[in-house]
Parts: sequence; structure tokens; C-alpha cells
Amino acid sequence: MYKSLEFRMNTWTLSAVLLAGVASVHAQQHFPNIGRAATPAEVAKWDIDVRPDFKGLPKGEGSVAQGQDVWEAKCASCHGIFGESNEVFNPVVGGVGAEDVKTGRVAKLKDTSFPARTTFMKAPSLSTVWDYINRAMPWNAPKSLSTNEVYAVTAYMLNLSSIVEDNFVLNEKTIVQAQARMPNREGMTTKHALWPTPELGGVSKPDTANTACMKNCTTDVKVTSMLPDFARDAHGNLAEQNRLVGQQKGVRTVRTSATADKAVAPSPGPKPAVLGLLQSNNCLACHGMDNKVVGPGFKEVTAKHAGKTDYLINKILQGSAGVWGNIAMPAQNLKPADAKAIAEWLAGGQTP
Ligand code: HEC
Ligand code: HEC
Repeated sequence: MYKSLEFRMNTWTLSAVLLAGVASVHAQQHFPNIGRAATPAEVAKWDIDVRPDFKGLPKGEGSVAQGQDVWEAKCASCHGIFGESNEVFNPVVGGVGAEDVKTGRVAKLKDTSFPARTTFMKAPSLSTVWDYINRAMPWNAPKSLSTNEVYAVTAYMLNLSSIVEDNFVLNEKTIVQAQARMPNREGMTTKHALWPTPELGGVSKPDTANTACMKNCTTDVKVTSMLPDFARDAHGNLAEQNRLVGQQKGVRTVRTSATADKAVAPSPGPKPAVLGLLQSNNCLACHGMDNKVVGPGFKEVTAKHAGKTDYLINKILQGSAGVWGNIAMPAQNLKPADAKAIAEWLAGGQTP
């Protein structure tokens, strides 16, 4: 039974089902009365993956017009009416054109001035998009769509991306035509060691083929990608957060009035020594750089008290009440020299 299933599953679901199978067979042999073999109906519920050759795709169909209704009712709130969302939720549509449909490679993927990397720019296989929506979307109610709704909403997204016509009906047969027009269909390689096994087209060598540079080597790092300005404050100011991934302290990602409309470099923030003091003395638990938290944003403090270093030293060490509202700041327990460094930074216009 599992042998025949093996051919229909990708490795991820395969291992999950094998685990379930192994566990129950194991249970019956070695732990009588604990667990039981999964029933075929239970296995069928797990076995929903759709492969790039469309094995596993259930029969059904949906038109672009039907898909528009599904999209607007169940998807647009997060991804935007036209799939264009570029804030917290992923942009699904955009960045592809007729030329990409012809070549099968998305030109904008190489354009660093184009901010978005949308689903249809990236996905080489339509099966992945179909499968992902079927198992994971809408985010707040996964697996709630009928098979026909998944077909329809996929058709609508294909239409928004100019891959299929307005009157297109997507089903288990026409999906092959749509796949042949996927803009990034030639954009995937399996010739690297991250791909599981040689039988599936992978290689077992490391996926870097660099040789050490011995002369005329590049000495400067060139940054080729950066956080686009519109996304800067989508997750608050990373510089004030302890992060679980990436750099422990992220870069400053606050949108200032100067950066709100046009893409300019982020304001530099305090020099590392001052930032370190604000962090180690826990000031940032109550103060944002630009925004009020419990106490005022440091930018506002500077605007109010520019030049008043001694006043600010005193306030930090003695505490403060009644200046910014009815929450008081208790006296802060830090070295006078550190309070002075912070006060100088605040009073001096926060120049880095
Ligand atoms: C409540 C918000 C929400 C709703 C509603 C929602 N999505 Fe999503 N969608 C997300 C989030 C968040 C992700 C990224 C999930 C992740 O990376 O784990 C995502 C990812 C996706 C992706 C993959 C994007 C990529 O390029 O990686 C597609 C395609 C998608 N959604 C389609 C849909 C469709 C179709 C619907 C409606 C049936 C829908 N979404 C409804 C929040 C939502
Ligand atoms: C428990 C929260 C909390 C912490 C921690 C905290 N503050 Fe405050 N801070 C406040 C509040 C609330 C105010 C507004 C008090 C007021 O209205 O007078 C304030 C006001 C200030 C002011 C402005 C005083 C004025 O007269 O305008 C400065 C400067 C200041 N804090 C610096 C710091 C520094 C530096 C640290 C870290 C050493 C720090 N704060 C830690 C809550 C806090």
C-alpha cells in the first residue's frame, strides 16, 4: 500500500505518511493495543499533494469570472484587490509581462530597482501555486476552499498576471496550457545539492562551485539588495528588537517623514555607543526613537529640549513627572557618565 503511494507524493508528504504508517505498523507489532493502522480514508486526506506533472490533481474546474468572486470575498483583504499587496502580506500578482510569458524567464527578477518578488514572478510550476492555495489559503481558514474554488481563484490570478484570457476555464486538462505560459517556468534548476536525490535530478555535490580568488580579488562589498522604503516599518523598528533570525539587532527600519514618500537612505540613528546605553539601560522598553511608547519618542524630547544637556541629565537620574502626560518616569539607575552621554546626544539634535 505505501509502495504505491510513494510514487504519488513529494518527499515532504511522503515522509509524513511513512512516519504515520511506520508508527502504526510498529505500534501493532510492538505495542499491542496502542494505536492502529491509518485507514485508507485517513491516508487519502493526507495525500493531497500535486506534483509538477500534475499527478495528484483532483478533477474539477473554475473560470476566471468565478475566481474573481472567490478572490474578492476570501483573499483580497490580505493580498489586495489586484493581488498587489506589498505591505505585510505577500504580493501575488505583478512584475510579469508578455515577454516573460514568451521566454519563460522573468526579466524583473534581475532588476534590483523593482521592489517586489511576486508569486507569479517566482513560481516555475503552477502545481505549486494550486497545491499551496489548496492546503494553506486563506491563511485564516486553510483547507476551507472547495476544489472548484481553488481552480477558479487560480484561474483569476493567472488572468490578473496576463497568462490566460478573460474567458479561460481552468481544469485538470487546461492546466497544462497555463503551465506552458508560466512566466518563470524556465527559472528553476534542480542541479544543486539542496534538491534531494540524483534520481529526482539533484546532484550530491555542494551547491557552490567557487574557486578561491588568488589575484585581483574584489575587496569591497557591494550591496545589491535592500529593504524597500515602503516596507520599512512593516514590522516596527528592527533596531529596537531582539531577533530570533538574522542579525541579533536589526537595522533601523523606521519611516521618517523624509523617507515616507521617496526612497532615501534611512536616518542613521544614534551612534553605537549611545544606542548601546539605551539598550543596556532598558530605556527602549518605554521610549521609541521616533514614536511614543510609554514615554515620549526621543525625537520629540530633542525637539522640546535641544541644548539643555544639564536639564536632561538631571531628569534621567532623578526621574520626571508631568511634562508629557500623567505617567511619571522613575529615577533611572545608571552611571552619571552614561546619563551625560545620552543627554548630550538628545540635547545635541541626535546627530549620530
Ligand atoms: C488573513 C490573510 C490572508 C488571506 C485572507 C489570504 N492569504 Fe494568502 N497569504 C497570506 C500570508 C500571511 C502568506 C504567506 C504565508 C507564509 O509564508 O507562510 C500568504 C501566501 C499566499 C501565497 C504564496 C505567496 C508567495 O509567493 O509565497 C499565495 C499564492 C496566496 N497566499 C494566495 C491566497 C489566496 C488565493 C487566497 C484566497 C483564497 C489567500 N491567499 C487568502 C495571508 C492571507
Ligand atoms: C518605565 C518606563 C520608562 C523607562 C524605563 C525610561 N523612561 Fe524616560 N520617560 C518615561 C515617561 C513616562 C516619561 C514622561 C515623564 C513626564 O511626563 O515628565 C519619560 C521622559 C523622559 C525624558 C524627558 C524628560 C522631560 O523633562 O521632558 C527623558 C530625557 C527620558 N525619559 C530619558 C530616559 C532614558 C535615557 C532612559 C533610560 C536610562 C529612560 N528614559 C527610561 C518612561 C520611562
